[in-house]
Amino acid sequence: MKDQWIMGIETSCDETAVAIIKNGREIAANVVASQIESHKRFGGVVPEIASRHHVEQMTIVIEEALKEANITIPELDAIAVTEGPGLVGALLIGVNAAKALAFAHNIPLVPVHHIAGHIYANRLVTELTFPLLSLVVSGGHTELVYMKEQGHFEVIGETRDDAAGEAYDKVARTLKLPYPGGPHIDRLAQDGSDTLKLPRAWLEEGSYDFSFSGLKSAVINTVHNAEQRGEIIAPEDLAASFQESVIEVLVKKTLNATAEYKVKQVLLAGGVAANKGLRKALEEAFAHTPEIELVIPPINLCTDNAAMIGAAGSIMFDKGIRADLTLNANPGLDI
Ligand code: KG4
Ligand code: ZN
Repeated sequence: MKDQWIMGIETSCDETAVAIIKNGREIAANVVASQIESHKRFGGVVPEIASRHHVEQMTIVIEEALKEANITIPELDAIAVTEGPGLVGALLIGVNAAKALAFAHNIPLVPVHHIAGHIYANRLVTELTFPLLSLVVSGGHTELVYMKEQGHFEVIGETRDDAAGEAYDKVARTLKLPYPGGPHIDRLAQDGSDTLKLPRAWLEEGSYDFSFSGLKSAVINTVHNAEQRGEIIAPEDLAASFQESVIEVLVKKTLNATAEYKVKQVLLAGGVAANKGLRKALEEAFAHTPEIELVIPPINLCTDNAAMIGAAGSIMFDKGIRADLTLNANPGLDI
């Protein structure tokens, strides 16, 4: 059978990314131009700066990906692009680049939801087995997504306030750590211990929803009160206590949901999936359930990339999903 080649384009936040995926599961090219250095001094992503960088980088990154995969545009079966959610000005650059290529070369255009992309990063690791559950933890999302088949997503729980990554970044800012703070907290936490016993937001019995804003406020208050008393809390312990509180809730709710939904696989997805503590805690939690396969992608496929968009795009393409040239960026798109 003829090979299938899909180009993935991702520009929803601060990475300009283009990938080429062969037969839905093989990475032929995966290029990511990160803008972190430009946003660092502002302590977070500045949307206007993100859009400008995407404009500058887009064609360069497309050319690099084609070169890396040793393929030409007319050989592509489809162009898959993140249509949302994300920053509207950033999304528009990727969407318009994809539309231009699709129009000029008469290639099908496939719209992809950013979170579907994060989940499908796992298909670059192993074949998916349904029904499955995915724990999605990123800078903008924290969700438990149930999938009964390819391309079908049911959100069974989500954050009611901050996303997990957002809480990491805000706590990092309190500790005066650089943006993005997640990896810094993760590193500090390895050398600290859970001495502060911060709150765990379990919410109502049986709920798969999350809440991290109370925890974030608890960290800020703890630091503030200690400062007023002239005390110093070791940043390592603060990081470890915060991280333990986040992980305990994420892991417990995932375990409860797998029991209720009787899934065969559990997938970890999103930028916070790069967290060493979370990866280890999930591995330990699922070590005694051989009937459930835990899949954790390598770190470069957890944070934003376009390989995941190509992988999800391949499934959507096979399902016959297409966009025409009226495709627009959709910053608040539901999965
Ligand atoms: O998925 P992603 O790259 O972008 C969004 O779609 O939001 O996720 C970015 C988030 C940031 O909040 C970042 O701090 C967090 O992922 N992150 C981490 C780690 N690496 C990235 N959080 C905790 N531990 C990490 N090692
Ligand atoms: Zn993301």
